[in-house]
Amino acid sequence: MSPPVSPPVTPHASVPGPSVRPRRLRTTPALRRMVSETSVQARQLVLPVFVREGLREPRAISSMPGVVQHTRSSLLGAVAEAAELGLGGVMLFGIPEHKNATGSAGVDPAGVLNLAITDVVAEVGDQLTVMSDLCLDEFTDHGHCGVLTPDGRVDNDRTLEVYAEMALAQADAGVDMVGPSGMMDGQVRVIRAALDAQSHHDVSILAYSAKYASAFFGPFREAVDSSLTGDRRTYQQDPANAVEGVREALLDIAEGADLVMVKPAMGYLDVVRRVRDEVSVPVAAYNVSGEYSMLEAAAANGWIDREQAILETLTSIRRAGADVVLTYWASEAARLLQR
Ligand code: PBG
Repeated sequence: MSPPVSPPVTPHASVPGPSVRPRRLRTTPALRRMVSETSVQARQLVLPVFVREGLREPRAISSMPGVVQHTRSSLLGAVAEAAELGLGGVMLFGIPEHKNATGSAGVDPAGVLNLAITDVVAEVGDQLTVMSDLCLDEFTDHGHCGVLTPDGRVDNDRTLEVYAEMALAQADAGVDMVGPSGMMDGQVRVIRAALDAQSHHDVSILAYSAKYASAFFGPFREAVDSSLTGDRRTYQQDPANAVEGVREALLDIAEGADLVMVKPAMGYLDVVRRVRDEVSVPVAAYNVSGEYSMLEAAAANGWIDREQAILETLTSIRRAGADVVLTYWASEAARLLQR
């Protein structure tokens, strides 16, 4: 006969009354799954994709292992896979062969981004929300998000005129949702008015509302062949400011934003939470290039468990309050979640 099993010794053993043990709810995988507060689902994930004019084959982005600049045709493979996996959407970024001071390839109906929108909508438009970046930095030779004054500052109101034109070009190309990311004051109002004036009432706006002047966009600059020197501190927000992030989100909603976004995500989870608590529209968060590259680099060195770290990252962003997460891991995460 085996000896009787002694009751577990607990920190509470000497205390009268019931022992409070949160660990009870962690006893088995089934129980942990039942009480899990936050879930990540494929439908909540949006895959950002890059398409570059004039490429014959997809080109690796060295600072973002696993992410490429697509050709127009390889892009279709990536978005078909995204649709197959049940993602919420794709966010398209275009890189023109020739950049200039006003970013005119962004408004050109035959520009790479606008052509790619039409291609992608034809391929997966009935299964995915097709979104496009509405900003000039991919198209300007100086790399800023707007047009410049003669003395080299970003000209807010002249930039708005270009954004309005760009919004129409993207809407005419068939996009479902535009993502103004340039942080110009009044951009949502001007874009909404331009869309409505041309009866594009159903094209929605995902406003990059609380977008910070972040070092974590570094690898993205390689991804879009940006020539930016200097920084974006006169238009993107100071990382120190959370109240201002909420203000930007509320302003964008007043101007007609359908969703608001916080960007980057990981260092700004408090802003995601504050915005979530203050607004009554869906909140998105952008798990940006530097966040991706950091984790990939650590995993490549064997310093962290890559798949676990990816899912933990996305869970944390969801837990902070994001309804939608833009992430370069979207397709891979969807695959991991099927297991
Ligand atoms: C601007 C834009 C940027 C990103 C998305 N849209 C770059 C910037 O503002 O400097 C960054 C995305 C990322 O880092 O993953 N068009």
